[in-house]
Amino acid sequence: MPETSSTTSTKCPNSIKIGPKMFSTQFVLIFSVLLSLPILFLLAPRIFPPHNPSIPISPSDEQDDLYLFRKAAASASSFHPSSSLTHYPSAHSHFTSKSKKLKIAFLFLTNTDLFFAPLWEQFFKSADKNLFNIYVHADPHSNVTKPEGIFYSQFIPDAKRTYRASPTLISATRRLLATAILDDPANAFFAVLSQYCIPLHSFKYVYNSLVTSKSFDLSSPESDPESTQYNVKIEHKSFIEVISKERRLWKRYVARGRYAMMPEVPFEKFRVGSQFFVLTRRHALVVIEDRRLWNKFKLPCYREDECFPEEHYFPTLLSMQDPKGCTRYTLTRVNWTGTRNGHPYTYKAAEISPILIQELRKSNYSSSYLFARKFEPNCLKPLMKIADKVIFRD
Ligand SMILES: *[C@@H]1O[C@H](CO)[C@@H](O)[C@H](O)[C@H]1NC(C)=O
Ligand SMILES: *[C@@H]1O[C@H](CO)[C@@H](O)[C@H](O)[C@H]1NC(C)=O
Ligand SMILES: *[C@@H]1O[C@H](CO)[C@@H](O)[C@H](O)[C@H]1NC(C)=O
Repeated sequence: MPETSSTTSTKCPNSIKIGPKMFSTQFVLIFSVLLSLPILFLLAPRIFPPHNPSIPISPSDEQDDLYLFRKAAASASSFHPSSSLTHYPSAHSHFTSKSKKLKIAFLFLTNTDLFFAPLWEQFFKSADKNLFNIYVHADPHSNVTKPEGIFYSQFIPDAKRTYRASPTLISATRRLLATAILDDPANAFFAVLSQYCIPLHSFKYVYNSLVTSKSFDLSSPESDPESTQYNVKIEHKSFIEVISKERRLWKRYVARGRYAMMPEVPFEKFRVGSQFFVLTRRHALVVIEDRRLWNKFKLPCYREDECFPEEHYFPTLLSMQDPKGCTRYTLTRVNWTGTRNGHPYTYKAAEISPILIQELRKSNYSSSYLFARKFEPNCLKPLMKIADKVIFRD
C-alpha cells in the first residue's frame, strides 16, 4: 500500500502547475478513474463483503454437514433397500408391515432458552413415549440453558452458530432432519418449531391429525383415491406452505444477483413459505440429499432485508421435486398483520385467553392449526393456567 501511494504522488503532484503536458496527464488520470468506476461497482460486493447474516458458511462446517447428511441418507437407504434417489416410498408403507407405530420428531430450532419448555413438557406428558422424539438445535454461541426434564438430553451435538435471515438457518434445519433420520427409523413426520412456538392442542390430537385422520386436511377430500384406500390413509403429505404469488418475490429472487440462481432455479420455480413445517420422512430425505439447490441458496445476499433464504429453500425444493406431495399450507399459525422488519406480531401476556386459543386454531385449509407463534416469554404463566382446561382439552 505505501508503495502505491508514493508512486501516485510522484505522478500526480498536489501543486497546480498547468502546462500542456501536465494537462494531458490529468486528463488521462481522470479518464482512467471514470473508467474504473463501473469496475469498482461490479467488484464492490466482493471487496466489501456483506455483513453478519450473509457470512458464508465455512468450508469446515460445510464438510461436517455433508458427512452427517451422507451418513443419514445411507442409513435410510440401508434400512429401506427399495428406496432410490428418484423414488421414495411413502413413510407409511415402510412401517405397515413392521409396526404401526409411526413417530413424530419434534425439531426445535433456537438461539435462546426454550421459554415454553414447561408447556411442551405438559404436552408430552400425556403422550405415549413410543410415538415421538425430540431434538433441539441450540446456537452454541448463545448460552442456551438446558431446561430440566424431557428436553435436557435432547440437544443435538452438531449444532452450529445461526444468524437471522441467513442460510445458517437452512443448515440448522437440515442438521435436525438428518439427526432425527439417523436416530430413529420410526420417525415418520418431522415438525420444525422455534422457541416462540406453542402447541394449540393435545399430543393425541396432533398425532391423530398428522398420522391417522382422513379428514384433517381439507384441501384433500376423502374421495381423493390417492390419499386413502379401504378407509386407510396410504399417502401422507408434507404440511409446508408453498406460495408463488408474493409482492417481494422478485426482489428476493435477485437478492444474490440477477442471474445467480440460474440455471437450477428459474424465477417461475422460486417459491416462498413459512420455515415452520411438518415434513414426511421421504421429504426429509429429499432435503438432506439435495446439493444442487443448496449450492444456490447458500450464496450470500447483497441485501439483508430481501434475503430470508430459509423461507425460500424448502418450499422451492419440495415444490420442484414433489408438488403433489405437499399440502401447500402450514399448520403453524402466525399473525402477519402489522408486520415490521420481517417479524410477525408477538402476543403479550395480557392477550392470552381461551378465546385467543380458539381464534388461533381456525384454519381455512385444515380442521385446525396445530401450533402457533410468536409469543413473548412472559406468556408462559397465563398459558400454563389454561393448558389443561383449554389447550390440551380436545
Ligand atoms: C455467554 O456466556 C459467556 C460467559 O458467561 C459470556 O462471556 C458471553 O458473552 C455470553 N454470550 C452471550 C451471547 O450471551
Ligand atoms: C393480529 O395482530 C393484530 C395486531 O397487529 C391484532 O390486532 C389482531 O387481533 C391479531 N389477530 C389475532 C387473530 O390474534
Ligand atoms: C380465511 O379466509 C378468509 C377469506 O378469504 C380470510 O378473510 C381469513 O383471514 C382466512 N383465515 C385465515 C386464518 O387465514
